[in-house]
Amino acid sequence: MYLEKISSLPKKFIKKLEDVDNLNIYLVQDYNVKLLNSIVDFSVNIFGEASLDQWGIVPQIRRGNVFLLKEDIKNKVMGIGILMRDWDDADKAYLFDFAISEEYQGLGVGFQFLKGIIENLIDQNFLRMNLTVDVDNEGAIHLYKDKLGFKNIAREEDEFGKDEHRYVMELDFEDFKKKFQAK
Ligand SMILES: CC(C)(COP(=O)(O)OP(=O)(O)OC[C@H]1O[C@@H](n2cnc3c(N)ncnc32)[C@H](O)[C@@H]1OP(=O)(O)O)[C@@H](O)C(=O)NCCC(=O)NCCS
Repeated sequence: MYLEKISSLPKKFIKKLEDVDNLNIYLVQDYNVKLLNSIVDFSVNIFGEASLDQWGIVPQIRRGNVFLLKEDIKNKVMGIGILMRDWDDADKAYLFDFAISEEYQGLGVGFQFLKGIIENLIDQNFLRMNLTVDVDNEGAIHLYKDKLGFKNIAREEDEFGKDEHRYVMELDFEDFKKKFQAK
């Protein structure tokens, strides 16, 4: 079994999307060449030269957590979320990559997907997560901060090269549970 089903997005939400009949969140447990290529293609499409290739994605599948958002009838990967455990704080997960395919952005899919990932991390006993985001990425900042409750804890200058400034954001899962009354 390559993909372990974690959860399904609410039917009420899926009805709002054209051309989509179901949407499930999967944790990648293993892969074949076809699955690996579809993950790499998705990632290259969104992140271009900043994308992980198979040499980066395979260790994440084996040692980290790679989540996929997938439409099963048309077998379409619509989102990816890659996480690693923080070396200095084993209760913290770091969101390394997160993206929704371009044609489905801005429809609430990213919110539903990340919320499902966080619920799974809570089930895995993580206590918090963090991420970095481009200071100009208004959509992502709005999603993380206003919709999900991440707090902006630092700003890193030239983090990925000249003028590639990032905000560091963190979410305490107790705050998340309070916000969504999840548990
Ligand atoms: C960032 C990203 C993951 C968000 O996913 P998404 O499915 O587009 O987000 P949602 O539709 O769930 O949006 C959540 C909120 O952000 C808003 N939003 C989405 N894109 C936006 C944009 N470009 N500008 C402003 N607000 C935006 C939505 O309106 C929604 O807010 P609302 O409920 O108050 O209306 C997605 O746009 C993406 O993959 N972008 C390219 C890759 C990327 O930047 N990844 C983040 C790396 S840190």
